[in-house]
Amino acid sequence: EHIFNDRRNSRGLNFNLHSEAAPFFAQSVHFAQTQWHAAPLIGGEIRSGDKTVAITNPFDRSAVGSVIYSNSKQIEEALVRATAAFVTWRSSDVELRAQALEKLADLLELNRIELICLCTREAGKSIPDGVDEVREAVDFCRYYAQQARTMMASDPTLPGPTGELNLLYTQGRGTFLCISPWNFPLAIFLGQIAAALVTGNCVIAKPAEQTNLVAFRATQLAHQAGIPCDVLQLLPGIGSQIGPILCADERINGVCFTGSSATAKQINRTLAARDGAIVPLVAETGGQNAMLVDSSSLPEQVITDVIHSAFQSAGQRCSALRVLYIQEDVAPRMLSLLKGAMAQLSVGDPSLLSTDVGPVIDSSAKAKLETHIDVITKEGELIAQSMIPSDLKGHFVSPTAVKIDSIAQLKEEHFGPVLHVITYPANRLPLIIDEINATGFGLTLGIHSRNESLALQIANSVNVGNAYINRNQIGAVVGVQPFGGQGLSGTGPKAGGPHYLTRFITEKTISNNI
Ligand code: NAD
Ligand code: ALA
Repeated sequence: EHIFNDRRNSRGLNFNLHSEAAPFFAQSVHFAQTQWHAAPLIGGEIRSGDKTVAITNPFDRSAVGSVIYSNSKQIEEALVRATAAFVTWRSSDVELRAQALEKLADLLELNRIELICLCTREAGKSIPDGVDEVREAVDFCRYYAQQARTMMASDPTLPGPTGELNLLYTQGRGTFLCISPWNFPLAIFLGQIAAALVTGNCVIAKPAEQTNLVAFRATQLAHQAGIPCDVLQLLPGIGSQIGPILCADERINGVCFTGSSATAKQINRTLAARDGAIVPLVAETGGQNAMLVDSSSLPEQVITDVIHSAFQSAGQRCSALRVLYIQEDVAPRMLSLLKGAMAQLSVGDPSLLSTDVGPVIDSSAKAKLETHIDVITKEGELIAQSMIPSDLKGHFVSPTAVKIDSIAQLKEEHFGPVLHVITYPANRLPLIIDEINATGFGLTLGIHSRNESLALQIANSVNVGNAYINRNQIGAVVGVQPFGGQGLSGTGPKAGGPHYLTRFITEKTISNNI
């Protein structure tokens, strides 16, 4: 448990305690049958619409609920309402906004069993991943509440050498458009929103098509926590249709985006083509994440961390390990352990605690990954592939490890349980660092070595946002490992870090000579 001054990170659920496990399993029986429904939430009202889409479970394609997409009249109304609401929300007390986020954190914890089950059924998340979703969402709310108090509660007085009074004010920028991905349907959805709201912005949230139900429940809880209905509105819709309409609208004063690098670039172009103000874009995007393992490392620890980094969440984390470099002297032993560990992975129903790897998000993700596996195993050499039970009906992709020659063979991020392995002689290390940097991505890096000066030298030479030495490379903790990359991986500043809120505010100096 992490404790920081008066804030502590969420503890999550301890399944070893009967008092916590029993209510979870009792209530999950109910939530295994529930059907949820999502729709545009405008001015606090649930709206009807022209297009309703069914939502199915990636595990077995059973029904989970439905979503109504927003139409153009609703988009217009949401923009009008947000613009009007900003005038009062901007000048509201930061303490009031911070307290609303803290109330939201409490409500998330109170409703966590429903939220975990919903993450499992809508996004195919394993139970531990669902627990972490709620924890991270709670941590974002409490952390940004604390940060906003520090940054905005009092306006610093600056020197006035000629006798004038100089004050520096911070305030929200206007309406932020928050566009989020399906792989962290609660944590990233709410992390973006919490940062924008607490700094005095209104928010129009556009969640990923695949996870509208989680987003809808989270928005309802935010309203219940005291966020005014016009200040936070939800517009479900197809990203490539509704996204460009909203990004092109002059009433959007900032965009916070997490998703693929290609979509971030498209949004950047739309914003740049607008007349009028220059609009900030906070983008957190993909990675081509490597781990370097040298001959001094501990093989069992390496393999535990590789399995965790490459295959947890079915590899559907931007931080996930994609390219494992093993020094050739220790490669035979490492690969033999890797094969053994992959044979032990349990692939299947994400709602069972015994499952290690669940499904990927949808049929199109499965098809893309399987095409990649076909191509890359022909170019390279298959090392191991975990077994998938033959009776599974969902979107399953076998965890796969394949030996390749160079990271340059990977032209894009492959977002799933595919691990590429490269063996190297020690004297190639400087070239490998250049090759990783040449991908242009810069999100996470893993290093396994007992040579501390070498490990630190590698960490400093590879251009990434998050480097991890002798551990796994996923699961950054709010306030502990501020998360986000550079280059093709994002604009910064880092989510869950002390500088994040600065991109959501504008500053104003008033020099007073009265
Ligand atoms: P995506 O880019 O396809 O979609 C992300 C969001 O953008 C969705 O809400 C989608 O509806 C919307 N969108 C799509 N086209 C749009 C457009 N033209 N204009 C505006 N919005 C549009 O990404 P995804 O498949 O949902 O998510 C997976 C990607 O997200 C991976 O690349 C992963 O690495 C990245 N990711 C990054 C981080 C990070 O913190 N760096 C975290 C999670 C996921
Ligand atoms: N913040 C997430 C992780 O570190 C993406 O895995």
